[in-house]
Amino acid sequence: MAGETTTNDAPTIKSGVFINHVSLASGVAMKRLTVYMWVTIGALALVLLAVACVGPAGPSGPAGPPGPAGQAGPLGQPGKEGPAGKAGPAGPAGAPGKAAPPPQIIRAEPVEPAPVAPPAPGPGYAAPYGLGRGATPEEIKAWDIDVMPDGTGLPPGRGTPAQGATIFAQQCAGCHGDRGQGGLPATSEVLVGTAPWFQKGNPRAVAPRTIGNYWPYAPTVFDYVRRAMPFNAPGSLKDDEVYAVVAWLLNQNKIIGDNDVMDSQSLPKVQMPNRDGFVPDPRPWPQVQ
Ligand code: HEC
Repeated sequence: MAGETTTNDAPTIKSGVFINHVSLASGVAMKRLTVYMWVTIGALALVLLAVACVGPAGPSGPAGPPGPAGQAGPLGQPGKEGPAGKAGPAGPAGAPGKAAPPPQIIRAEPVEPAPVAPPAPGPGYAAPYGLGRGATPEEIKAWDIDVMPDGTGLPPGRGTPAQGATIFAQQCAGCHGDRGQGGLPATSEVLVGTAPWFQKGNPRAVAPRTIGNYWPYAPTVFDYVRRAMPFNAPGSLKDDEVYAVVAWLLNQNKIIGDNDVMDSQSLPKVQMPNRDGFVPDPRPWPQVQ
């Protein structure tokens, strides 16, 4: 405003007024600019002062430790009576950890095995490998107990039906019944019975197969009882006891008389009722190398 100016109280021309106004305005602006300048300089000086006091920022600190590894996924559920269940999903990946130090491998000193002298090769299978030794004739004899249908292999000894009755009652009747008729448990065999086990034209057995109606050779009854019975203690009977109990079984099946003595000579001569009930097998025996 013109009235407020102090430098030009009486302007004469409009343009002068204008100029004065301009000058006036310029002067005010200049004053303000000057103030702003000083304020700015002061502020800058303050900032510089602060910077000088605080000093420059230090170097950045070291990086933090790596994050823990990710958790493994839970185990998969096992399948039901079938294929195995699927494996659980893998856990989220963890932050990459530091490489583990290489494992220290401690190698044991190789130990030389103590030298073992090979067994002296003997006859039979010992050569050429040098393993074990050949069996002695006595050892072979202890295992070689088979008795053939013609009586080959029957040992010395003897027995009667009366002697066998006692042995059977003590050692056999518990499973086969007191008269060899079979009993409990049901798995035990019927040993005594003379009725035919088959009917012509009937494919099914009509009676239990026994020593009396089925077994073809008497010496093989001896062989079976000696090697396999009593079921709970096979091989425990003496040869005389086997002869006696076989004599009792043959007598009960009405094959031999009450007083017949069974030994290596008489047993092969016993005619079994079903001797001809078997068809000979024409195939050759396998040749043992
Ligand atoms: C613990 C029960 C048990 C005792 C004791 C026992 N046996 Fe047996 N016996 C059996 C069984 C089981 C069989 C059938 C075995 C098989 O089929 O493999 C059998 C089978 C037999 C057979 C064959 C029968 C056939 O027709 O095939 C004869 C013979 C025999 N026994 C005789 C005897 C004599 C003799 C004694 C006594 C010295 C005896 N057993 C004691 C359970 C017994």
